Amino acid sequence: MSAKPRLTVLGTGYLGATHAICMAVLGYEVLGIDTDAAKIAALSDGRVPFYEPGLPEMLRKALDSGRLRFSTDIAEAGGFGDVHFICVGTPQAADSPAADLRYVDQVVSSLAPHLTRPCLVVGKSTVPVGTAARLTSMLQSSAPAGTAVELAWNPEFLREGFAVEDTMRPDRLVFGVSSPWALSVLESAFAPLLEASVPVVVTDLPTAELVKVAANSFLATKISFINAMAEVCETTGADVQQLAASLSYDPRIGGRFLRPGLGFGGGCLPKDIRAFIHRADELGVGQAVSFLREVDAINQRRRQRTVDLIRAQAGGSLAGVTVCALGAAFKPDSDDIRDAPALDVARLLVAEGAIVRVYDPQAMDNARRAYPDLHYADSVAEAATGAQVVALLTEWDQFRELDPEWLGDYVAVRNIVDGRHALDPTTWRQASWDYRALGRAA
Ligand code: UDX
Repeated sequence: MSAKPRLTVLGTGYLGATHAICMAVLGYEVLGIDTDAAKIAALSDGRVPFYEPGLPEMLRKALDSGRLRFSTDIAEAGGFGDVHFICVGTPQAADSPAADLRYVDQVVSSLAPHLTRPCLVVGKSTVPVGTAARLTSMLQSSAPAGTAVELAWNPEFLREGFAVEDTMRPDRLVFGVSSPWALSVLESAFAPLLEASVPVVVTDLPTAELVKVAANSFLATKISFINAMAEVCETTGADVQQLAASLSYDPRIGGRFLRPGLGFGGGCLPKDIRAFIHRADELGVGQAVSFLREVDAINQRRRQRTVDLIRAQAGGSLAGVTVCALGAAFKPDSDDIRDAPALDVARLLVAEGAIVRVYDPQAMDNARRAYPDLHYADSVAEAATGAQVVALLTEWDQFRELDPEWLGDYVAVRNIVDGRHALDPTTWRQASWDYRALGRAA
């Protein structure tokens, strides 16, 4: 194998596209493969098929370098690649909390017949612990190169909205390997990052698989912890924002992922904790992670409690009440609406008879496609016109920076529920708004 291995990236969704683009910019020859012809056409044409700050510029740079190309033909992968990264999704199964591994299985079974020489297959997808062992036997039994094909696991921790930064400057790299050869290949595939002194943990396959779900479980627990404190604050008249600030000064606790509000959503945290509970149950260690059920339940309650707050502000009933819903994406700087708390709230409001107008700076197309029955506005002003309650549900900078007087001119009543603790209550109250947020006194 050459000093600089050639890389294939299988699956060019959010994770794979980012990985393929960044690796090409780092100097590797990269081939991105996906079964979705529209995605491949867009990427080949220099268009990123989702919203991610900084990525379109990186894609242009990678394509201009001549080191990156895309294809729908997985047969090309075998001849091209020394290292094959598996970057397909592992969504929650339709009928159970388990992870749906069909895409991982499909990609491995369609890649294997093309592996005719020694190579390393590297899993990056988030999978239940034990998957790598199963995939190793699948690969080695059906690849013509047999046991000269090895599997490693390299979990990916990138955050949406920070994908480029997290890929080019990760907090750490985790290399799950079963041989010194696999480790040496991974080291050559990540050489520029190792030269930049990114910390590396070298471990076995099950630990590498577990690191990712453990990290996401910890983050989810931290968010639900502060949201549980918010519930206590609500009944005691305490202020969760000040509580969180006070906790954050203790370096053992820290302030990150301690922002109270509507809770977590997206394509990772919610499904990862559910899949982890399910897998632990299967393995007979369910009791060890049973607290994650409570983490999930606290998080789900936030959505209904936000609706309760909006109803209370509207005077006890939502029937016929016009609500301006600011935000649809699961978090700012993303157009991802998977398990988006904002859209859940909008749908719960509609179920109680409210007229909801949704506005989001980037996620409108995705929201319209997924929930065509909601009303959508093309601007904050349009969404706010005549509203009896404004609900801030995703903390985009555009919403954080809103001028309360400006917004006040559009609404029917100056009522605002700050679902993300993104606004300064004093400023809004001084402009005669009734400002409310979960975990803060009215
Ligand atoms: C997460 C992990 O952070 C990342 O390491 C992993 O690779 C994928 O899953 P992501 O889903 O992009 O990344 O979003 P993240 O920034 O973690 O936010 C998740 C959710 O938690 C969002 O809905 C966000 O609004 C919410 N959140 C985050 C809070 O409610 N409070 C906080 O303090 C932090």
